[in-house]
Amino acid sequence: MKLSITLTTFFFFLHFSLSATGPWGSGVPGSPEMLELEAKWRPMASSPGKMRGHQRFNEHKYGMFIHWGLYSQLGGIYKGKKMEEGGIGPRVAEWIMRNKEIPRAEYAKLAETFNPTGFNAQEWVAVAKAAGMKYMVITSKHHDGFALFDSEVSNFNAVDGSPFGRDIIRELETACKNAGIAFGVYYSHALDWRDGGDSGIKDYGPEKPKKKVFANYFDPAPIKFDDYIANKALPQVKELVNNYELCEIWLDTPIYIPARHSFAFYQTIYDANPEILVNQRIGNHFGDFGIPGDNVIPDQINKDAWECVATTNNSWGYKSYDDDWKKPIEILYWLIANVSKGGNLLLNVGPDGMGIMPPQAVANLRTVGEWLDVNGEAIYGTQPWRIDHEGNSALKMGGTEHRRKAKLDFNFGSDDFWFTTKGDKLYAIALARPEGRKILIKSLNDEPIRKIRMLGQRLYLNWKKTDAGVEIELPAFLAAGVGYALEVSLADD
Ligand code: GLC
Repeated sequence: MKLSITLTTFFFFLHFSLSATGPWGSGVPGSPEMLELEAKWRPMASSPGKMRGHQRFNEHKYGMFIHWGLYSQLGGIYKGKKMEEGGIGPRVAEWIMRNKEIPRAEYAKLAETFNPTGFNAQEWVAVAKAAGMKYMVITSKHHDGFALFDSEVSNFNAVDGSPFGRDIIRELETACKNAGIAFGVYYSHALDWRDGGDSGIKDYGPEKPKKKVFANYFDPAPIKFDDYIANKALPQVKELVNNYELCEIWLDTPIYIPARHSFAFYQTIYDANPEILVNQRIGNHFGDFGIPGDNVIPDQINKDAWECVATTNNSWGYKSYDDDWKKPIEILYWLIANVSKGGNLLLNVGPDGMGIMPPQAVANLRTVGEWLDVNGEAIYGTQPWRIDHEGNSALKMGGTEHRRKAKLDFNFGSDDFWFTTKGDKLYAIALARPEGRKILIKSLNDEPIRKIRMLGQRLYLNWKKTDAGVEIELPAFLAAGVGYALEVSLADD
């Protein structure tokens, strides 16, 4: 399979509108500084190493995101108050320090009680594997500044700064390697409520910053943002990319980070290993792949590399009182809707303070894994087709709050089909089954069809072209489960 990435398309990130994370850095497009940095960045971003990284990224299609840290002990409740009671900013549980304005010294006490004896790296990786996920990305340091890896740069980490004393990132890296799962880390580079000062708002933001919710205004570390970047963020990213074998690094919340800092992160990561892909939130458009937004499915096909990130309930970090779990059919929809538009899905799980993944999330993920055991060919390593979908169901997914508030139902019609393609195969995926055995796929009419079979079955199916579309007779027997996927073999023409 040839992956076509042209230089101009590197700038596709601009197509994804700004997400809930706010501004994308303070570099001025077209300025001499930007032009100079972009000229240095472009050859790295299009190097053979990066292309190998892109190839692997596209093969994977589906990964597990994990948000885990000190905040997981609180489960979204602080001194009896939930995230939704008072405070400003996002209501996701890992934002509790910001939401409840917990002073740094007080928050740091959570490190003294961080002893998640239920954590077992092999078990987490086994869940990802059973779920049909091909890669894992875990928070190595979130906005609260606490690292889950052994760091020489700051003692505020799981090994030196908690009774647990274990390198969580190393254990997961090893377990992933043994299980054939690719491994990556999230790192909040520009937002650090403990050590990041004001996140550069004073030095690099406008006079009246729009996104007042982000930085630590209640008890900021009395240091300059530039010093934080030079003395913590960049050195820690250096540790991560040099000491661990990573497939991607997921930087977050660039806010007003200057272009030269974003570029320095890119260069550091590239120097360690050009195959590590970096997400768009590095800032100033120096990423290798785009992010449509938190819990956002884009409206259109985009053939460049991008990754939808989504929650399994409505929070990234563990929230003890959020039981609004995405059911298997909803998860399947998120996967298929994204993959048919050309993206990956990185689906989050938030383990609790003892290291236990919420059982309902795990059960739902496993059900999706069973579906992928049969139908995975229609997902992994595929490209988007001419259109992503035909049918009447038009669901919009416009962010974490949207998903939480909207009363969505996932009753798809048997005339809803999503498409993907790989080599001479075209896949039509359905999330509902018809009453009888006949289905009609309108968009296939002009295709040079050779044969059609259902994934999981060997027999080829009867089909004929009609004025309305291609009529296909499904097998008499379908195993229990949601929907099905058809493999349509096409003649080379
Ligand atoms: C946002 C949030 C953060 C979460 C991330 C996941 O940036 O600040 O809490 O980690 O999105 O996409």
